[in-house]
Amino acid sequence: MKKVITYGTYDLFHQGHYNLLKRAKQLGDYLIVGVTTEHFDESRGKVNVIDPIMDRIENVKKTGFADMIIVEDHDGQKIEDIQKYGVDIFTLGSDWEGAFDYLKAYCDVVYLDRTPNVSSTMLRSSKFDIVRVGIIGTGRIAPRFIAESKYVSGLSIECAYNPDKKSAEKFQKKHEIKVFTEDYDEFLKYVDAVYIASPNETHYMYAKKAIYNKKHVLSEKPLAFTRVESVELYEQASKKGVVLMEAIKAAYCPGFQQLINVAKSGKIGEICDVEACFTRLADPDSREMTDELYGGAFLEFGPSTLLPIIKLLGTDYIDMRIDSITNEKGLDIYTKVNIKYPKSFATIKTGVGVKTEGQLVVSGTKGYIVAPSPWWLMRQFDVRYEDANKVEHYEPTFQGDGLRYEIGDFISKINGTDKKDYKLTAQESIAMSDFIEKFMAKRRDMK
Ligand code: CTP
Repeated sequence: MKKVITYGTYDLFHQGHYNLLKRAKQLGDYLIVGVTTEHFDESRGKVNVIDPIMDRIENVKKTGFADMIIVEDHDGQKIEDIQKYGVDIFTLGSDWEGAFDYLKAYCDVVYLDRTPNVSSTMLRSSKFDIVRVGIIGTGRIAPRFIAESKYVSGLSIECAYNPDKKSAEKFQKKHEIKVFTEDYDEFLKYVDAVYIASPNETHYMYAKKAIYNKKHVLSEKPLAFTRVESVELYEQASKKGVVLMEAIKAAYCPGFQQLINVAKSGKIGEICDVEACFTRLADPDSREMTDELYGGAFLEFGPSTLLPIIKLLGTDYIDMRIDSITNEKGLDIYTKVNIKYPKSFATIKTGVGVKTEGQLVVSGTKGYIVAPSPWWLMRQFDVRYEDANKVEHYEPTFQGDGLRYEIGDFISKINGTDKKDYKLTAQESIAMSDFIEKFMAKRRDMK
């Protein structure tokens, strides 16, 4: 019996997939089809596959050509499968010509002609209108958004806005964006969605107006400085039927959710303590060190460090204490927050003028999880136990600087292909605004 194997994502199943599977089956007697997982696709740079894996498997099954369907979830698996299943022929479409010649050491490799003029990528872009995105604020973060958005299909950056016309123009030229403007009303006319990367204190105002004009909003953190403002924005977004997301990058990185799930799986027992630290020494002339109202360590790193705490321990804390070391301007160069829950504790440490180990540690009754700096990108973490020899090491998928995941989710939500907001819920985002409000009140008291 001649065994044939082929692999694919099979997203938005189309004629090209059907033809390929038919011809693959004709190459032998028994056809094995490997369907990729979302994680594996993400690691290969395909960040907005639409159909869930069970639907993609079901579509392959319906063709009747597959004798066996397997799931492909890691690099190197093809050799494993060929050996495990005693495969005689490996086949793929001609778009992959040459890419899998290394498998000739294990079996025959056949590239079949690809069906012209159809692909999942084409279907994904014709299914939805291209989302026209505008960038508000043209400072340090905005260029990263532009670079990472190139890895997400379905959007185009149309316009740059800065109230300072010269800055807007300089940015537009440098990044070859179609239009720039210093007029916010005009800006909103060019776009369907906005990315807010302006100074912290302006996020709420820009978001509010964008939502009012039915534009989707991805806002850098902090979304707002008070709970009331944050609630208002989410309520308005839901009323206007637009997507509102706070851009806390960690929340959208694939490894972060995995750490949360491992922590909640019972592996480390009851979670008793979460410590999240994030420090970056800032230039003495930087905004962080000089902006008396909105600079400082907590506003810079508070939302990211609060994220794992809110995710793991929730928001029903019984006590919270904020302590800061300030500079001559009264800005916190280091802020430590201790939070007490009925059966657990949490600590955050944020610094722009004090350096410490930037780690995330989740301690439990049976073991603990430690994610080293930069844990906010979550490239790796360990689960450790009393027995020092027993260490489970995780290296989740992570590409680029991670922003592409957040952008991918934003576009998927706008297109309605992702209706889940478990990565960062409105309640969690509102809870962060609540912490920020308390911090700002404390800062005012100290002055
Ligand atoms: N395929 C084909 N003809 C097409 C499209 C795909 O023969 N017009 C083949 C691919 O070569 C591969 C298999 O179908 O062997 C599964 O490919 P997959 O990557 O799932 O499909 P694409 O449409 O190429 O997806 P994408 O656009 O996301 O890359």
